[in-house]
Amino acid sequence: MRMVDLIAKKRDGKELTTEEINFIINGYTKGDIPDYQVSAFAMAIYFKDMTERERADLTMAMVNSGETIDLSAIEGVKVDKHSTGGVGDTTTLVLAPLVAALDIPVAKMSGRGLGHTGGTIDKLEAIEGFHVEITKDEFVNLVNKHKIAVIGQTGNLTPADKKLYALRDVTATVDAIPLIASSIMSKKIAAGSDAIVLDVKTGAGAFMKTAEDAKELAHAMVSIGNSVGRKTMAVISDMSQPLGVAIGNALEVQEAIDTLRGQGPKDLEELCLALGRQMVFLAKKADSLEEAEEMLKEVMRSGKALEKFKEFIANQGGDPAVVDDPDKLPKAAYQIELPAREDGMVAELVADEIGTAAMLLGAGRATKESEIDLAVGLMLNKKIGDKVKAGESLMTIHSNRENVDDVIEMLYANIRIADHAEAPVLVHDIVT
Ligand code: URA
Ligand code: CA
Repeated sequence: MRMVDLIAKKRDGKELTTEEINFIINGYTKGDIPDYQVSAFAMAIYFKDMTERERADLTMAMVNSGETIDLSAIEGVKVDKHSTGGVGDTTTLVLAPLVAALDIPVAKMSGRGLGHTGGTIDKLEAIEGFHVEITKDEFVNLVNKHKIAVIGQTGNLTPADKKLYALRDVTATVDAIPLIASSIMSKKIAAGSDAIVLDVKTGAGAFMKTAEDAKELAHAMVSIGNSVGRKTMAVISDMSQPLGVAIGNALEVQEAIDTLRGQGPKDLEELCLALGRQMVFLAKKADSLEEAEEMLKEVMRSGKALEKFKEFIANQGGDPAVVDDPDKLPKAAYQIELPAREDGMVAELVADEIGTAAMLLGAGRATKESEIDLAVGLMLNKKIGDKVKAGESLMTIHSNRENVDDVIEMLYANIRIADHAEAPVLVHDIVT
């Protein structure tokens, strides 16, 4: 087989065989096929697309390029949730204990990474003593006994995806549905769960800016998952404005506690129920999505979900008293209000730019070396569609530096007030 012939085949719009796709991904991972040929191949895919079969083969070739996680020592159907990334997305912190409270195993492997705020692990580390440096055996034992544990990312998963993603980044081939879908799904499949629930975001703060593109990506990923034996469902949700009211690490832990208590922001609760019911259904604990949703509401009402969160914190070295005493979370030195400059209704809160403002305060990492300040961030007092009077606070800035003029300027540039505005639809679609 020669790579040049396979590039030509895809360039001419023909379908590649499983063997041909394996040849390309194996050769690329080993370094036998050079970047310039894979660049041309990625561009050919960009223009000619891939069939569903080719997409599934590409995904599995990337899964098999490195190590995979074996969760077979954990009893029950393991369901993982993945979000394509948003601003102030507190769903994992809520969903993990919520679903575990229904005896569904939550074996979460998580990273830190770059972003507007830290990742799930950083957020949990806002709880004093909480740590994820546990052994694989401890992890498995905790999930079997308590149905919930989080461990830091280990192992060399999907090296082919790492290499290909970096190459796409510099060859204008990131925005191709078959490549995005196989990239995301390869990582989820290598992480070992039996079923996958996807939260595909759309809007200013999302990778997919339009609902149509998000829908196409969701269908592509659901099709890949189901055709390789991992039951997959998706929710397409709004990320034109930040989710919930908190953006920041400790602030989002508090928001998750409030939501588990049934007293959180309504949009965050709605999305957690939309994702959670798919998780419960795929874990075979309910016969319909409606029944699954009722079960989730019941563990919120009864306090069982909140108890599960306490248990989870204590198991991993944290102080569970934080759940009943917000003063135990790190607190920023300054709380600065951002007043509205006119009367009207909030028409825009540009999600990604507001996320960047939170990062400027220190809530997230700009580079791998940056230190995160767990206490800082933003609390939204108004969301799109809310009425506001001049002088009323739009947001509270939680900062450890006194002068936040740069943040204020950035926020005002990304908040629009108009005579009339309506709250955006949160759940655009579900793909099952
Ligand atoms: N996120 C990924 O992990 N891969 C892509 O290709 C795009 C977004
Ligand atoms: Ca939030």
